[in-house]
Formats: sequence, C-alpha cells, structure tokens
Amino acid sequence: MPEAIQPIQWKRTSLHLLDQRKLPREEVYVDCATAEDVADAIRTMVVRGAPAIGVTAAFGMAIGARAFAERQPRAERRAVDAEVSRLKDFFAATRPTAVNLFWALERVEGIARKAPGDASAVATLLEETAKSLYDEDIAVNRAIGDHGAPLIPAEAGILTHCNTGSLATAGFGTALGVIRAARAAGKNVHVFADETRPFLQGARLTAWECVKERIPVTLLCDGAAASIMKRGKIQVAIVGADRVAANGDTANKIGTYSVALAAKAHGIPFYVAAPISTIDLSTPNGDAIPIEQRDPREVTHLAGHAVAPEGVTVENPSFDVTPSDLITAIITERGVARAPYVDSLRRLVGAR
Ligand code: MRU
Repeated sequence: MPEAIQPIQWKRTSLHLLDQRKLPREEVYVDCATAEDVADAIRTMVVRGAPAIGVTAAFGMAIGARAFAERQPRAERRAVDAEVSRLKDFFAATRPTAVNLFWALERVEGIARKAPGDASAVATLLEETAKSLYDEDIAVNRAIGDHGAPLIPAEAGILTHCNTGSLATAGFGTALGVIRAARAAGKNVHVFADETRPFLQGARLTAWECVKERIPVTLLCDGAAASIMKRGKIQVAIVGADRVAANGDTANKIGTYSVALAAKAHGIPFYVAAPISTIDLSTPNGDAIPIEQRDPREVTHLAGHAVAPEGVTVENPSFDVTPSDLITAIITERGVARAPYVDSLRRLVGAR
C-alpha cells in the first residue's frame, strides 16, 4: 500500500525531499541532485526526524558514489573505498544527535566494503541499499505500531511532542505510527500536539499530518501541557527518540523532558517509540549523548520577524535527555522494553 505522505522520493538519479520548512503553507519538493544538495537539506531541516535523516543520507551516499563513478570510471578499488569513506564522514558531519544517521552510514559503508566490482557496481549497490533502507523503515514503523497499539486505552487523549510521523521517517511514523495503529485497531484517540518551540514541528508538521488524515487533534503551546494533564484530558504521553542510551536515557526534541516530568507528576504513562536503530548501546547514559545547538535566530525570530530584543543571549539546544526512570516503556519493532533497561534493551538489540 503506498504511503499517503511521502517526504522522501527517489527519482532514478536524484532525491526529491518535501520541504518541511515550508509546511503547512506550501507542499513543495526540493530536488537534490548532488551529495552536497542532500547534506545541505539535512543541515537546513528540509528533511528532519531521526529515521528520515538516516534514509536520506543513505540516498546521498548513493548519489555521491554515482558521481564518483562518472568522474573516474576506471578508478582503482582502493580509491572507490576511500571515496565511500569520505562520503560517510561528510554526511556524519551534518547533524550530531540522531544516531540513526550514523547507523545508516555505517550500514551503507559496510555493504560497499564487502561488495565486489568497480565504481559503477558499487554505486548501483548503494542505490539498492538506500532503497531497501527506505522500505525497511516503513516496515519497522508498522511493527512499532503493532507493538504499541495494545498499550493505548480504548478511549484516550494522547499527548505528543515534536513530529514523529510520516514526515520524520520514510513513512507511517514511530510515536505517531503507534497512534495510527491504535486508530486502525478501533480505538478512540484524540491527539494533543505540543507546538514544539522553536522550530514548531508540532504545530507545522504533526498538526498538518493529523488534519490531512482526519486524526482528531488539538494543538497546544508547550507551556499548556502540564495544565491539560491536570484537567484529566491526557491518558498517555508518547514521543519519539533521536538516541536511546544503553541505560534507557533518551534524547529527543527539546521540551520532551518537561513532558516526562509532568506526566510523572500526574501519574500518566510516558512511552518512547523508536526503532532498534535509535538504540545506541555504545553510549552508556544520557550524559554521553551529543546535543545539537542550533542557530539562536530560531529562538529570537518567528517567520522572519524578531520576537526578542537584538543582542539578547540565547541558548538553543535542539534536544534534551529524559532520564530512563521517567520512561514507562520503550516500544520498538522487536517488542516493548521496560526497566531495567540495561537488560531489556540489550536483549532486544541482540534479538533477531
Ligand atoms: O530536529 P528534528 O526535527 O530532526 O527532531 C526530531 C525529533 O526530535 C523527533 O522526535 C525524533 O527524531 C523522532 S522522529 C521519528
């Protein structure tokens, strides 16, 4: 079944990315014909969301490998491998927090290294690999939905933060995928979407996806979440993740930690929905997760207009870390992990 919203489209030699900076006003695609175009699109948030940037970078590697094969068709195999490594490092420098990016790049490089053939054969293989990562991501998200839907009550107000839907993945979504699966299972759910300052992924993207698919949704400014919980409107909070450390500490969009604290204070379960590729067992805990700092202008300006005095000091961490003791469970495509996460995550990552 084709996905209704397709933020990433492969068009034989170039990658078309739905420009998420322009939603919900305009639905336009950016045509990325070079590796540099693709890296730029990741850096400037044309495409965003942990799984989506991993899949996008894989296509970027394929585009870069093809360009190299055209420039140097008779290159020695050593030079081909060196170019693949260079491309990997180039894409790894685009954004630091979402581990799915590094996971995808490692996987692409590993496949290229083992493959026989010349530069053109490697480029063809990288294209096939990117396409299969894309298909795999959609299948994984549907499986996360299958594991997560039973955790949602028959009637529920569900608070979510940032965008974790089709736009943040190859399709279907992680946390929003669980919400989609719960609806498909006949549950009566109502989404409460935090607007997610400063980039407004909740207002611009999650609300757009929900409205487009007629999923009942109410938009909240971030500061309203706790009081809406207190009023009894929220039964479940569910978010995505950019990196889950070995002990279950989870990096996600800035403001997620506040949601988890408020959920705890109100006795509301707080779930994280994420693919296995988001779990990073080599990062022991949240303190070791690199947090991206973005341009202060994202905070001082709204739609190009200043909303703060010139010269003010700004902190703009793009992510925060929710300690694992605030997380009720982590929903993956291989099942649901609960505390103690050191054991449950290791088991799930090791399982096939
Ligand atoms: O800065 P963004 O928009 O890339 O941040 C995205 C998030 O924080 C998402 O919640 C996370 O990547 C999970 S998406 C399935």
